Amino acid sequence: MSVVAMFGAQWGDEGKGKIADALGENLDAMARFNGGNNAGHTIVVGGDKFALHLIPSGILRPEVACYICRGVVIDPRVLLEEISKLQSRGVDASRLMLDPHCHLIMPYHLTLDNAQEFLMGDGKIGTTGRGIGPCYADKAYRIGIRAIDLTDTDSLASKIDMALKRHGGLLSEMGHDYTSDDIVKSLREVLEDIIALMGDTAGSVRRHITAGDNVLLEGAQGFILDIDHGSYPFVTSSNCHPAGAAAGIGIAARDIGGSLGIVKAYQTRVGAGPMPTELTDEVGDKIRERGREFGTTTGRPRRCGWLDLPLLKMTIANTGMDSIALTKLDVLDGLDTVQVCVDYEVDGKVLNGKIPQSYQIDKAKPIYEELPGWGEGNGELSGGQNEYIGFIEETLGVPVVIVSIGPERKQTIIRASVFD
Ligand code: IMP
Repeated sequence: MSVVAMFGAQWGDEGKGKIADALGENLDAMARFNGGNNAGHTIVVGGDKFALHLIPSGILRPEVACYICRGVVIDPRVLLEEISKLQSRGVDASRLMLDPHCHLIMPYHLTLDNAQEFLMGDGKIGTTGRGIGPCYADKAYRIGIRAIDLTDTDSLASKIDMALKRHGGLLSEMGHDYTSDDIVKSLREVLEDIIALMGDTAGSVRRHITAGDNVLLEGAQGFILDIDHGSYPFVTSSNCHPAGAAAGIGIAARDIGGSLGIVKAYQTRVGAGPMPTELTDEVGDKIRERGREFGTTTGRPRRCGWLDLPLLKMTIANTGMDSIALTKLDVLDGLDTVQVCVDYEVDGKVLNGKIPQSYQIDKAKPIYEELPGWGEGNGELSGGQNEYIGFIEETLGVPVVIVSIGPERKQTIIRASVFD
């Protein structure tokens, strides 16, 4: 299989960047297909830490071509800053190509994101505040601004006027008086650099596929944050489903040879919304500290809890996820026992292995099975860790092909190859 869609199987922050980087050795191309700079990937290479939000982590491997495809929303300044940070550290970012169809996050999208959260009061989503939702909403309203629009500043101004007219009431209520002239003026500072990045990403990815290259399709966030399948309304604004890769890039669904779900050895969640296995005790605190579970994008502490297998069954049933990369297993080292949620009770009834519906997560009470803990790791998988992995594989019926036991590139155990 030479085209693999990699996606988060839980609530995001599963460690996709690290796994993508580990796979990079065998990769020819990497294409990001959804989300925006709400995502954050931390990759550690030889003690050097890189935080990426928009650029595929393949950029850290000189031989990997990197594409930001049309399903992604782009904050132009954030993208250019990310490129310049990489360049200042000697990383060649000239292999990066941006799809001209990508929708751009405008300054008023950030204001609207915060305004929407404010209006929702106690029911707020806890977004990253990066303007992601309003940008995708404008795309659906057909008043979005695309990267290609930067090539014609006259029509750009009238497109921005339309969006400002649509959102004017809320924006002025929030004390903002954006004008298209001011926005175009500030875009003039970045537009040449953005235009220089633009190219036919869909055609290029298709050419890699035709040539039989190894291509990794990179999804952002996680399946339970998918707008159609996740814990709505506490979700993001795009499809985090691996099949979203076909639409978000512009390739045939049949070309996707497999889907690699990234599964953290426990659950985390940032923002509001249900989380059946959440731990609010000292074990949760311990996992947060050991796992450095603070958002790469916002720095928010992540909610932590035990691994939730019913949720993963839902991911598998809806996506066909055919292999697992299990990350951060080392974070559970040193615990006396480890709990795993194996079933849910919903409205007083045990599901008995039935796959939950996403709207049931809200009411789900976890049913746990206790497994023995294991000691501190020594760089190899211990008996207890192997038992934990075996339990996951057996319950889910999906092989764990990669295990990550630390942040470094070398702390990755490849049990079976992902590409043929
Ligand atoms: P938005 O994507 O900023 O609109 O945020 C919507 C929800 O998705 C919030 O709960 C965020 O915390 C969550 N979210 C968005 N991106 C990520 C991510 O990359 N990792 C984890 N959670 C995320």
